[in-house]
Amino acid sequence: MIHAHIVPKVIGPFLLYVFLALLCNNLAYADPPYFICSNNSNYAGNITLFQNNLQDAIFSLSSNASVSKFYNTSKGNDPDGVYSLYMCLGYVPNETCQTCITTATQDILRLCPNTTEAVVWEEVCQLRFSNKNFFGQLNVTGNVLDLDNKKNISEPEQFKSVVKETLNTLTKRAAFNLSANLYATGEVAFEDNTIYALVQCTKDLSADGCNSCLQRAITDVLTCCYFSIGARLPSRSCFLRYELYNFYEAPTSTNGQGGSNGWKTWMMVILAVASACLAIVLLGFCIFCLKMRKKAKKCERETISQQANIGDHYISNFHRTNFQGRYDPNTRESPHIDLASILAATNNFSDSNKLGEGGFGPVYKGILSDGKEVAVKRLSYCSEQGSQEFTNEVLLIMKLQHKNLVRLLGFCTEREEKLLVYEFMPNSSLDVFLFDPRRRAQLNWSKRRNIICGIARGILYLHEDSRLKIIHRDLKASNVLLDYDMNPKISDFGTARILTGSEGETNTAKIVGTYGYMAPEYAMEGLYSIKSDVFSFGVLLLEIITGRGNASFRRSKGAPSLLAYAWQLWNEGKAIEMMDPLLNDSCYPDEFLRYIHIGLLCAQEDANDRPTMSSVAVMLKNESITLCQPQRPAFSIGRFTDHNETCYDSINGLSISNIGPR
Ligand SMILES: *[C@@H]1O[C@H](CO)[C@@H](O)[C@H](O)[C@H]1NC(C)=O
Ligand SMILES: *[C@@H]1O[C@H](CO)[C@@H](O)[C@H](O)[C@H]1NC(C)=O
Ligand SMILES: *[C@@H]1O[C@H](CO)[C@@H](O)[C@H](O)[C@H]1NC(C)=O
Ligand SMILES: *[C@@H]1O[C@H](CO)[C@@H](O)[C@H](O)[C@H]1NC(C)=O
Ligand SMILES: *[C@@H]1O[C@H](CO)[C@@H](O)[C@H](O)[C@H]1NC(C)=O
Ligand SMILES: *[C@@H]1O[C@H](CO)[C@@H](O)[C@H](O)[C@H]1NC(C)=O
Ligand SMILES: *[C@@H]1O[C@H](CO)[C@@H](O)[C@H](O)[C@H]1NC(C)=O
Ligand SMILES: *[C@@H]1O[C@H](CO)[C@@H](O)[C@H](O)[C@H]1NC(C)=O
Ligand SMILES: *[C@@H]1O[C@H](CO)[C@@H](O)[C@H](O)[C@H]1NC(C)=O
Repeated sequence: MIHAHIVPKVIGPFLLYVFLALLCNNLAYADPPYFICSNNSNYAGNITLFQNNLQDAIFSLSSNASVSKFYNTSKGNDPDGVYSLYMCLGYVPNETCQTCITTATQDILRLCPNTTEAVVWEEVCQLRFSNKNFFGQLNVTGNVLDLDNKKNISEPEQFKSVVKETLNTLTKRAAFNLSANLYATGEVAFEDNTIYALVQCTKDLSADGCNSCLQRAITDVLTCCYFSIGARLPSRSCFLRYELYNFYEAPTSTNGQGGSNGWKTWMMVILAVASACLAIVLLGFCIFCLKMRKKAKKCERETISQQANIGDHYISNFHRTNFQGRYDPNTRESPHIDLASILAATNNFSDSNKLGEGGFGPVYKGILSDGKEVAVKRLSYCSEQGSQEFTNEVLLIMKLQHKNLVRLLGFCTEREEKLLVYEFMPNSSLDVFLFDPRRRAQLNWSKRRNIICGIARGILYLHEDSRLKIIHRDLKASNVLLDYDMNPKISDFGTARILTGSEGETNTAKIVGTYGYMAPEYAMEGLYSIKSDVFSFGVLLLEIITGRGNASFRRSKGAPSLLAYAWQLWNEGKAIEMMDPLLNDSCYPDEFLRYIHIGLLCAQEDANDRPTMSSVAVMLKNESITLCQPQRPAFSIGRFTDHNETCYDSINGLSISNIGPR
């Protein structure tokens, strides 16, 4: 049961967060910048003068970014002069452009110090400078390719020709239609999907220049990556991207309409609303917890009556209403597995086959008639995962295929049973290894690194590379399963949510997840975005490399949380002390520190400061990338609850899906 004493601890940070959200409601793009820096050893000018001119030019660019999507400027005179320009993508609102350019100016100075020519691409903008006048000049050498989107399309040749035709049409429109202003987007159907594409040129180019730049970009992207479901090609003077989802119609920010006059009124209104909401939520908590107690009792009775009925074969109403028309039951590959086979496979759900208890019910090992080993998740009749969530999970996971996601092989919805059949993972879950000193010894550094990178790839796939944008919402060690070779696979999508293209951040009244892994904005306000998964990943990463669980910190009263501990040692320059002693032989201190650093970046309190998963993947892979300093992580979360104080306990850790407000 959640006790009243947590309340004062929650309110403080909550209101603080409301204030912060009001004050800094801007969107920061933390994506890894792509960049090209050119060394110019025979530079004729005075580098000091050049640097001064560069500062001026960059100041001028960023002061124009809030009013214009493109700006070029030159400062000083040759040979020390600086030519520079920036471009924001056409769909970006002014304030986002400003933020992006600010980031770009910082990145370009950081990544390319002492160079006389450089270009940097951020998520939605690019910035370039040179000692030579390049305005209107085309240079298409060294185009960068985004190789992150590695999922392959099933019909590459057809896809290639459709993409090519689309991009060519857009190029013609962007380059030669004056009203298009060197920018064009468009969509075209491809099989069951829609391809969304965008092309844009910097405005210093002529129509022919723009056309040539994009033609070259199309050739490059289709030569290298025609089989990929999405790609972007940043070039010096143009930009091209296509995806199977709508990336350019996402309204990124809706604030900024009210002038500063209305600011105080807004603040008052929001504070009032927030306080009222908080009161209602707390009331809801209490009522709900009372209800859960009663419901748990009712549950036992129903499970018994359920068992008395085994053998009764009819397709439940549930099945008919939820799945009709969504898949064809007559196809060879029907994902529906009948109850009789599952009962045979699991020995009538015998206790000896039980693998454990998940958040939504027990999991059994089974062997299907063809000898395939499977794990069967039996959703409890009165589990919080209602029909809707079940449908959600099935439809969602059926569409997902990635080597770091556990595969759903089929499901069964006969009678009152709701069963999910997964591939079997012989090494069970990560928590089993991580939190047991003997088994943890089997995980040397390279295995742990492999696990971390695998999890990152799995999440990245969910966030960006699958056809949908999916937020998992309950990443934790017990939801990471391990196969024969200790490759990680993310499981348990019961809480996952799909974001449609237009949502960056979504609010939910129903908070599901696990304390200690939950991002502050989500735990307190129910706001979730891809950045809440990044937070959970950060905590998980720290657990893996330190060999210490969040929960162990919570159980020993008075000890700081894992994050607080990590942050403290980091600031004292003693982060190396956190290294799991079992790793002493297999891990280089520098690499360990880098991982801690990445973990702290992911767990920063402000979601905007956290990197995206694609940045994380790049940081993990690429040791030469300089990481920025982490801001304070959110470590107040996860300290206000305790195992014996919750409505429900499960061996998988503390699942709070059952105590969320309704
Ligand atoms: C410049 O060139 C030197 C030697 O080739 C290299 O070590 C250095 O990293 C280069 N710097 C940049 C910014 O490219
Ligand atoms: C570069 O310019 C600065 C400022 O005008 C001057 O002080 C410095 O001597 C110059 N350096 C060279 C190598 O010309
Ligand atoms: C762009 O910046 C320059 C120099 O800072 C300034 O003179 C100019 O007015 C700015 N343009 C706009 C549109 O704000
Ligand atoms: C936003 O940018 C457009 C040009 O892209 C400009 O016309 C408009 O004035 C800008 N709005 C504000 C509030 O600066
Ligand atoms: C840049 O050049 C200056 C002077 O030539 C030098 O002192 C500084 O170390 C250089 N910085 C980098 C990052 O190369
Ligand atoms: C294009 O840029 C590269 C790298 O900066 C440079 O070596 C090359 O000379 C440029 N080509 C043209 C035609 O300017
Ligand atoms: C995608 O297809 C290309 C070319 O057929 C192949 O080289 C690549 O390995 C494939 N990638 C994946 C993830 O299947
Ligand atoms: C140019 O674009 C406008 C609107 O984007 C469209 O109405 C017009 O027909 C186009 N002109 C040509 C020649 O395609
Ligand atoms: C911007 O570029 C154009 C050429 O495309 C040039 O004519 C113009 O002078 C440049 N503007 C500035 C401020 O340098």
